[in-house]
Amino acid sequence: MSADPNKLNPNREAEPTATKTVLPVWLVCVLLMLLFTAGWTFDQDGGWFDARVYKPFKAPPDPYQPPAVDAGLYGMGEKVYNKPTCVACHQPHGKGMPGQFPSLVGSSWITEPEPGRVIRIVLDGLQGPMDVDGLPFNGAMVPWKDVLTDEEIAAVLTYVRGQKEWGNKAPEVTPERVKAVREKEKARKQSWTADEIKKVNPAD
Ligand code: HEC
Repeated sequence: MSADPNKLNPNREAEPTATKTVLPVWLVCVLLMLLFTAGWTFDQDGGWFDARVYKPFKAPPDPYQPPAVDAGLYGMGEKVYNKPTCVACHQPHGKGMPGQFPSLVGSSWITEPEPGRVIRIVLDGLQGPMDVDGLPFNGAMVPWKDVLTDEEIAAVLTYVRGQKEWGNKAPEVTPERVKAVREKEKARKQSWTADEIKKVNPAD
């Protein structure tokens, strides 16, 4: 017969028994943070969705689309020139037509550092006998003040004055400058003659 060992030895300690332990607070926090980070990362990668569905669609750059040429005044001026505005007479190559339309390529009229005269020519037009770098002309250029805005005139002049292929290197013309000249000449009713234009101070 077997006796209860505890009863046989009353000094013996009781057997260890499992008790309920509380989960440490720090561990709960760490687990929650892990869960949050995992969920966030998962979401960033698109979750269960295919990346092509999940990521916002962006068209790849089109290799056949020419890159936007010079924006700004020069680029805008190129468009104005070819609208057709100036190109009709001065031609795509800018050299005009002998005896009819003078050249803008290297023309001393167009490449003056100060643009006061060319702005006036474009605003109110030009007519009668004139000399363009030794070649005589006696035609009429139409006024543009009612057709083009200050910005468009500034742009087209910036373009022709700086046309790289023609070798022109005159500084740009700002819309503010065109606006100021337009204001000064607003009483003018007729086109300029070359003689009148020569009396104008280019810096004015
Ligand atoms: C209808 C045709 C015609 C158009 C359009 C025209 N021009 Fe002219 N342009 C002429 C003629 C003609 C002359 C010479 C006028 C003369 O003989 O007195 C001239 C002269 C000039 C001159 C001075 C001479 C020179 O060669 O440098 C400039 C600058 C000029 N044009 C710029 C322009 C610009 C910029 C435009 C566009 C906004 C333009 N023209 C549009 C016919 C035209």
